Amino acid sequence: MSASASVTDSSPVDLQALHTFGLRAKANALRVIQSQTDLHSFAQQVRAGEPVLLLGEGSNTVFTQPNYAMTVWLMRIQGKQRLGCNGTHHLVRAMAGENWHSFVEWTVAQGLPGLENLALIPGAVGASPVQNIGAYGVELESRLAAVHVWDVQQACFRVFTKAECQFSYRESVFKQVPSNTYIITAVDFALPVKWQAELGYGDVAERVQELGGASPKNVMKAVIDIRSSKLPDPVVLGNSGSFFKNPIVPAAQAQALRAAFPGMVQYPMPDGQVKLAAGWLIEQCGLKGFKVGDVGVYHRQALILVNHGRGQGGELVALINHIQSVVQAKFGVALSAEPNLI
Ligand code: EPU
Repeated sequence: MSASASVTDSSPVDLQALHTFGLRAKANALRVIQSQTDLHSFAQQVRAGEPVLLLGEGSNTVFTQPNYAMTVWLMRIQGKQRLGCNGTHHLVRAMAGENWHSFVEWTVAQGLPGLENLALIPGAVGASPVQNIGAYGVELESRLAAVHVWDVQQACFRVFTKAECQFSYRESVFKQVPSNTYIITAVDFALPVKWQAELGYGDVAERVQELGGASPKNVMKAVIDIRSSKLPDPVVLGNSGSFFKNPIVPAAQAQALRAAFPGMVQYPMPDGQVKLAAGWLIEQCGLKGFKVGDVGVYHRQALILVNHGRGQGGELVALINHIQSVVQAKFGVALSAEPNLI
């Protein structure tokens, strides 16, 4: 893209195609971040107190209002490179505006496996550390070396080590600080030189066998096949992936729930707490396929909410409230939404 792409577009901006849930919404202006100059311009707007929102590929953001008096900035800094090898790990850097799945495919094609279980997760590289994306037995934090950010108040670059990112399940320091404190500009990955397939989750091992055995390409293909069969393609049916976090409860509560609901899916966590499957809880409430207006619970995976085409923000908010209150009433468990509702 040319530098002119970062010039403000003065007509109202249609946000429907800029987020994967696809609700109809408009904002005042659209700008693009492709360079350090653009980072400065963004920071100036923030420091001037103007309303701004930074967006990657919009797969974890949902616009629930019809109109926003704000400027939307798209992170589009591109680039990826192999930095070297420290003996145990290959170090790889990807800029924040790279598409996540294309980056995963590139690493596997380069002979740098380690991210294949995270294939087909929608979104941009820059968003991946914010919620510590994870799938099929691999969490981003286990492959991440450092996060490069632009500090908006100080107008300078800063590097967060993995420890400074304070990762936990779908959490990081980047979710804790006020929005627009940092802009993630690049992510460094440490990919193990001695690759080992991670096949412990669900049907991955079985699918890998069908494909001819454990290789990085086959694991990636297996994950792509499984995800495609269960999760709707946002291009076809608007959605934001898992809509609720899997709730984590104390062991005693998990035990009581298991006694009351013997089939309940539970995953023990390293700290002794227990993670419950939100999709299971929602399905047990009979909500698979449930609709409010034109938004609803996906019929094949209850953790996914979908926009059947003409969904409205108010309908989505009503649906979320309904699911939360029904699950709370049946199980005494609070569900919290995973995407950023604007
Ligand atoms: N389940 C049901 N009914 C449903 C959905 C799930 O009973 O409608 C049960 C499944 O049978 C299974 C358990 O719940 O026993 C967990 O389901 P699944 O393996 O499909 O995973 P999930 O917990 O629904 C999480 C991540 C996904 C990730 C998968 C695979 C969260 C919030 N979601 O989903 O991530 O792909 O595991 O690792 O942690 C995302 O975050 O957008 C996402 C798709």
